[in-house]
Amino acid sequence: MKNLLTLFILSVLLISCGDKQTNGTEISKELYYKASVKQLLIPQVSKKYLLLPIEDTGEEVKTSIFVDGTGTANYVIRLAKDKIDYWVPLDLSEWQGKEIRLDIPELNESAICLKAIKLSDTVDFNSNEKFRPAYHFTPPYGWMNDPNGMVYYNGEYHLFYQYNPFGTRWQNMSWGHAISTDLVHWEHLPVALSPDSLGTVFSGSAVVDENNTAGFQTGSEKTLLAFYTQSERGGQWQSLAYSNDKGRTWTKYAENPVLKKANTPDFRDPKVFWHETTQKWIMALAVGQIIEIYSSTNAKEWTYESFFGAGYGSHDGVWECPDLFKLDFPLEGGQRGAKWVMIVNINPGGPMGGSATQYFVGDFDGKTFHCDYKPDEKHWLDWGKDHYAAVTWNNAPDNRRIAIAWMSNWEYANDVPTQNFRSAMTVPRELKLIKKGKEYIVSNYPVKEMENLRKEKYEIENITVENDYNLDNLLENNQGAYELVVDIESQSAEIIGFKLFNSQGEYVDLFISLPEKQCYIMDRKSSGEIDFSDRFATVTSAPIEAKKTYRLRLLIDKASIECFEDDGEISISNLVFPSEPYNRIRFYVKGGKYTINKFVIYTLK
Ligand code: FRU
Repeated sequence: MKNLLTLFILSVLLISCGDKQTNGTEISKELYYKASVKQLLIPQVSKKYLLLPIEDTGEEVKTSIFVDGTGTANYVIRLAKDKIDYWVPLDLSEWQGKEIRLDIPELNESAICLKAIKLSDTVDFNSNEKFRPAYHFTPPYGWMNDPNGMVYYNGEYHLFYQYNPFGTRWQNMSWGHAISTDLVHWEHLPVALSPDSLGTVFSGSAVVDENNTAGFQTGSEKTLLAFYTQSERGGQWQSLAYSNDKGRTWTKYAENPVLKKANTPDFRDPKVFWHETTQKWIMALAVGQIIEIYSSTNAKEWTYESFFGAGYGSHDGVWECPDLFKLDFPLEGGQRGAKWVMIVNINPGGPMGGSATQYFVGDFDGKTFHCDYKPDEKHWLDWGKDHYAAVTWNNAPDNRRIAIAWMSNWEYANDVPTQNFRSAMTVPRELKLIKKGKEYIVSNYPVKEMENLRKEKYEIENITVENDYNLDNLLENNQGAYELVVDIESQSAEIIGFKLFNSQGEYVDLFISLPEKQCYIMDRKSSGEIDFSDRFATVTSAPIEAKKTYRLRLLIDKASIECFEDDGEISISNLVFPSEPYNRIRFYVKGGKYTINKFVIYTLK
């Protein structure tokens, strides 16, 4: 009996010893580290997430994931070496019961993450972070830049976005995904497209393949096609993926890439749409500082048609994220006219420095875009510093043209003072053509659905501003997400201004300067936290006409102010990082007086 017991104990010891040799040292429950080969191992996955500790500005470490011994993905992750700033989850749900191995050859054995990394069934996305907007779209966690693949299908607006699921700095470009039925409330879906052997997944667009031109449709659901740039070691090419289940899962086309061009390092951001007249797919592609246009009948083979842009607009940076679409507008007598709009985002070279969105109005015949503007004219969709990569939804219902932009600027986007997530989108905005003299310009205004967020309304009428006029307590329990509408009658004033303050003395100054300057200014130099970048504390300025009345609408959301004049002929979008919400307003005037016919504050749901 005693012998038997000894034998049993010995064999248990042997087995666990053997385990230790094959698996390495158990650093947390069911998770092993093998120092000799720098591998992390989960012999049999039973939890939903592996929680990775991240050091925000730490070194990037190559991390390869193997599932049952097969390499499935390569990422670059700032695994915490000296301190843990936040955690990101590696989603294991599709690998339950399997063996997962992470090869991290560059990670030093003394790195603090090796003591903290753990498996879990839950993850805390810290959605209450101070600067997390209340009603603007943000990723659940991680880094976000451009909006991508926006398409409306079957009652759902899809919003994909440039996403790093493994940290809050730009890296590991993938397509994050969310859907909405009203453009205001968003549901997060799993990452739609991840990097593969052709490279990371850069910006692009999506369409509904109504006529099954690509031949991928299998059931009754129309196929959604996504076009995206893949980037690898300095090369860029366009790839295609398709979904037959309303965008829930995506299959990459086996013969990717579908469009390649030798010796062209900046060759990206395909915007594809269906051109009714020629019955072809059209792709607008940013190539250095021009936009190339390609066409296709099957979405797989592309023919070069023309290019636009040499000598037109601003060329002080790289052209990126184009869009091309038709916008119609009312003519006298109830008829409708139409023009084509080419959007070209540019970085740097924006009017306020860094990133911005320019546009051109003209005509498109299925092959070539002809611009109405003179070559040296510059037209900007937004005059703030935080409006970039704006593109529009394909297939939006009721002939609406709805744009959304990334609300940041490449000058400092990686350094803004948020932690678990970085960046928000602007609110979705409807684009319209407005005739100015002989030209058409493009206005952008929050989609009407935004008004459904309004909850309580406080209104004051007839304030004559001859001296300073203070409203000391805008809202009880102000959480930093509200809307202001200010109806102004300019009268004799030369400067019509107001400052939004908090009790810490931080403020944003907004003013219209008349008559000789004719500009509308937002100054955020004293707005709160500003010293994370020397490019942040700026004054942004838009040209404005001298008029009798102005209506200013401000959407304020924790860390941003989007300001619209009248119907959106002017918009200014800027980030701000106040230590507490602005809750006081001071109207001021220079050189005369003005009247605020109406001042409205809305709290937002
Ligand atoms: C614009 C951009 C795109 C590119 C993407 C990469 O912000 O540079 O041109 O596809 O970001 O994330």
